[in-house]
Amino acid sequence: MAARLIALASLKGGCGKSTLAFNLAAGLLRRGSVGLVDADPQGAVRHWLDWSADLAGESALPEVSAIGDDPHRTLADMARRYRNVVVDCPPSLDMVVTGEILNQVDVVLIPVLPSPLDLWAGASTVAAVQRARERNPGLQARLLLNQVEPSSALSRAMSLALARLEVPTLASMVRRRAAFRTAAVEGVSVYQLGARGREAAREMDQVIEELFRT
Ligand SMILES: Nc1ncnc2c1ncn2[C@@H]1O[C@H](COP(=O)(O)OP(=O)(O)O)[C@@H](O)[C@H]1O
Ligand SMILES: [Mg+2]
Repeated sequence: MAARLIALASLKGGCGKSTLAFNLAAGLLRRGSVGLVDADPQGAVRHWLDWSADLAGESALPEVSAIGDDPHRTLADMARRYRNVVVDCPPSLDMVVTGEILNQVDVVLIPVLPSPLDLWAGASTVAAVQRARERNPGLQARLLLNQVEPSSALSRAMSLALARLEVPTLASMVRRRAAFRTAAVEGVSVYQLGARGREAAREMDQVIEELFRT
């Protein structure tokens, strides 16, 4: 079976691309081989793994590669080596490299925080995805609500606005949870946090199942 390439992308910084890329890769690793591609010049996921090696030594974390100077070649190479490839994109969609990644992946997940400002950024991201589809017609795109407050249901206005975007929103959402930050501090994924990460890991599993349900 061909590898699945999944990118986490958004116009907006701070929406959770790196956090979700890392934990998604860790969740997929429980199902098959995973390569994680760091395309962010800030190198969040690389630092995470270096940190992890320093703190915990070898653990069940995916292998990470930098995107390098030739994104097409890096992704093609990773697709040959792994069952799943997760790509953490740079913060701006204007970056040439993001365009090149979107031309090549099967799925793009767009994290969105449940606030109007973030939703507008989500809408611009959707426009960029539509442009990428001219070259990569099979590109699937999904919005993923992240950092949803545990107590508040999504407002009706938010739900309506999301429904108007041309990219569907996953029914699974990720809540704002201390476990996501704790995992980063400890250099692990939420799956390695035991009881402290159980709910967060369950959410990541739901995202994976919804995304790859066929
Ligand atoms: N679901 C979540 N719950 C709690 N904190 C989160 C969650 N998702 C992301 N964060 C935190 O939000 C900040 C931004 O996330 P990050 O993954 O770096 O975003 P991006 O890569 O899009 O810039 C980080 O401090 C991260 O730990
Ligand atoms: Mg990032």
